Amino acid sequence: MAIWTGEDGRLFLLQTKDSTYQMYADRHGVLLHTYYGKRIGEENLSDLIFQADVGFSGNPAEAVMDRTYSLDCLPQELPSSGVGDYRGGCVELLHSDGSMAADFRFEGYEILPYSYQVPGMPSLFDTNEETGQTLIIRMKERASEVRAYLYYGIFEEKNVITKAVRIENHGKSPVVLSKCLSGCLDFQYGEYELITFPGRHAMERSLERNKVGRTKLEVGSIRGTSSHQYNPAVILCTPGTTEDHGECYGECLVYSSNFIASAQKDQRGQIRVLMGIHPEQFSFCLNEGEAFDTPQVILSYSDEGFTKLSRQYHRILKEHMCRGKYCRQKRPVLLNNWEATYFDFNEEKLLKIARQASELGIEMLVLDDGWFGKRDDDNSGLGDWYVNEKKLGGSLKQLGEKIHAMGMCFGIWFEPEMISEDSDLYRQHPDWALRIPGREPNRARNQLVLDMSREDVREYLLERLTDILANAPIDYVKWDMNRSLCDIYSHVYTGKRRGEVYHRFILGVYDLLEKFLARFPDILLEGCSGGGGRFDAAMLYYSPQIWCSDNTDAVNRLSIQYGTSFFYPVSAMGAHVSATPNHQTGRETFFRTRGHVALSGSFGYELDLNKVTKEEQDLVKEQIADFHRYYSLTHEGDYYRLAGPEERFCAWEFVDREKEHALQTLVMTSAEGNPLPVHTIVKGLDPEKNYICSANGKIHSGRTWMNGGLTLGRILREYESILITWDAV
Ligand code: GLA
Repeated sequence: MAIWTGEDGRLFLLQTKDSTYQMYADRHGVLLHTYYGKRIGEENLSDLIFQADVGFSGNPAEAVMDRTYSLDCLPQELPSSGVGDYRGGCVELLHSDGSMAADFRFEGYEILPYSYQVPGMPSLFDTNEETGQTLIIRMKERASEVRAYLYYGIFEEKNVITKAVRIENHGKSPVVLSKCLSGCLDFQYGEYELITFPGRHAMERSLERNKVGRTKLEVGSIRGTSSHQYNPAVILCTPGTTEDHGECYGECLVYSSNFIASAQKDQRGQIRVLMGIHPEQFSFCLNEGEAFDTPQVILSYSDEGFTKLSRQYHRILKEHMCRGKYCRQKRPVLLNNWEATYFDFNEEKLLKIARQASELGIEMLVLDDGWFGKRDDDNSGLGDWYVNEKKLGGSLKQLGEKIHAMGMCFGIWFEPEMISEDSDLYRQHPDWALRIPGREPNRARNQLVLDMSREDVREYLLERLTDILANAPIDYVKWDMNRSLCDIYSHVYTGKRRGEVYHRFILGVYDLLEKFLARFPDILLEGCSGGGGRFDAAMLYYSPQIWCSDNTDAVNRLSIQYGTSFFYPVSAMGAHVSATPNHQTGRETFFRTRGHVALSGSFGYELDLNKVTKEEQDLVKEQIADFHRYYSLTHEGDYYRLAGPEERFCAWEFVDREKEHALQTLVMTSAEGNPLPVHTIVKGLDPEKNYICSANGKIHSGRTWMNGGLTLGRILREYESILITWDAV
C-alpha cells in the first residue's frame, strides 16, 4: 500500500519503492512535515521535532501557555502567512475585511485509487501498466470559510510523489489569493546544496550549485514562460553528492509560466524549500464557490546520487507525462529549413533541399518561419495564418504533396501566441494584443503577444490552425513562442482580475494545445520558445520533443544538453546537425561530431545538404543509419552522465534495460599539447555478462569494464568525437 495512515487518522506515510514521505496533523491541526528520505517503516517520526522556547517566535493562541509551540519553528506542509511563521508561507489571502492572514488546519483526508489530475493544466497521468494513488488532505482556514485541499500523488514504482494545492472559497465574501505556491519542503536537520539550471537565450540550462544558508537562494521567472534564464526544476542534495553517491531530492514544477523556487535556512538552521507560481504580478480573486488550482510539483528522492534521480524523472516524464502516438513511436529524422534559408526561400529552393535530404535518408522536411502572411523578415505578419501562395508558388497542399511524393513527411512552423503590429490581425483587433492603454509597449523581436486568456483569441487561432492543417498533408508542427511577456493588460480580465492574466494566459495556451491535439491527435508536435525558453515538464504533455536551444554549435550543445538531462529525457531534446562555421558561434567542428552530439536527442538536420561535400553527404547516410541502429538505446535506454562539459572530454552513455547493449559518446572539449591518454569509465553493464567493445575489440565481463574502464588506443583532436559500443556476447 503506497499510502498508509496511522490509527488516529492523523499520520500519513507515502511509500514509494525506495522513499518515504511523512506528515502528521498535530493536536492543533497543524500539518507537520515529519520526514522525506530513504524508505522507513510505518512509525511516527514527529518526535524528531524538538520544541523550544525561541525568542521572537511567538505562539498561537491555542498553545496557551506553551511557549515552545511556535509556527515559526515547526516543519510544515502548508505554512501559514501573516500569523507568526516568518519564513515565507505557501498561501497569502486578502479577506474582504481587509485583513491578510492564512492559517490552515487539518480537517480530514480521502484516498483515491488513481492519480489526480490538476484541472486545466498538465499533470502526470495513469497508464494501463501503472496507476498512481492520491491522498487528499482537507484543511480549513481558521477564521474564514476558505478550504485548502492538498493533493499528493504517489507513483510507487517510479519513486515519485507529486503535490498540488486547491483553494476553494466556501464563504459568501470574495477573497483574493495573492500567493499560492504548489509546495513547501521543510528539512529540520542537515546541510544541503541547491542545484539550479540558469542560462540565457542560446545558452540554456547550465548548472549552478550553491550551499543553502541563511541568505535566500531563489530562482524564478516573471517572463510568462518558464524561461531560458532559469528552469522550474531544482535539486537539493547533501554536500559531496555525485552521480553515484549521496542523497538528492528533485523538485520539478509542471508549469510553463512564471515560477519561483527558493531555499533558505531559518534562524535554527532548518531549511525551507518553496516552489510554485511566482507571486509577483499575481493575484486571483475567488468569489463564493470559486476555486484555484496550483500546478503540480513532481518530487523524487535518490540516495544513490544524480544518475538515479535523473533516471526517475526521465521515466516518469516519458511514461506518465508525454502523450500521443509519438511518445512511443519512432520519430522521423527531420530537416528544418531555418538555418538553411531563413526567410529567403521559394518552392524551388525548398524542393531542392527536400530532394537531396530524401536521397540521403531524411524522413521529414520542416518548413520553418516565413510561409504565411507578409513575412519575409521577423518584423511583420504574425497572426496572419494564411498561406503565402505567391511565395510558395502554389498551395501548402501542393507543396506537402510534393514532399510526400518524395517519401517524406511534411511539417510546418507556427507561432500562435504572437501578433505583429504590421499584420491584418492587429489592424482588425488591436485589443487582442497584451499592451497597457496609454503606454508604449515593449517590443521584442518587434512583436507583441496575444492575449491568450481570451476565448475569442483562442477560437481564432484554433480555426486558423485547423484550416491550415485540414487542407494540407501536415505531419508535424513546430509550436514556437519568441518573446517574454510584459505590459500585462487584458481587456477581459480587468480591475480586481488584473493579477490573473499571467496565469490565465498559460491556461489559455494549454487549452488551445489541448483542443488542437484533440483535433489532430497524430500530429508530432515539437515545442519551442526561441530554442529552449519553454523547456519544462508541462510542455512535454503536449510535445514529446522540444527544440532544446537556438544554439546548434555542437560544443555549446554539450553543456546545454548536459544541463537539460538532469530532469528531462534525451528523447525530448530537439538536436540538429547544422552548417559549419556554426551560425551562432562561428566555431568550426567536424561533421561527425555534430552528428554524434545531435544523435543524443530527437535527431535532425538544419542546413542545406546540397551545400556540403560528397564526403559529408556520405556521413549523413552513416549518421542516419546510426540513428536507426541506436534509437532504442538513445530514446528508451538508461542514461548516464560520465564526464561533464567542463572536463577535457565530455562523455555520456546509454544502456538498454536488458543490459545487452551500451553506447557511449565521447567528445574532446579542448586541444592539448603533449596530450594525455583518454581513459573513460563505463557504467550500467551487467557485472556477470561478457561484453565486446567496439573501440578495441576486447571482451571483458561487465564487472571488469565497469571497474577498469577503457583507454582509447589513439589521441583525439579538439572537438573530435567517438561512439563506442559494448555488446553482450
Ligand atoms: C525561433 C526558433 C528558431 C526558428 C525561428 C524562426 O528563434 O527557435 O528555431 O524557428 O524562431 O523565426
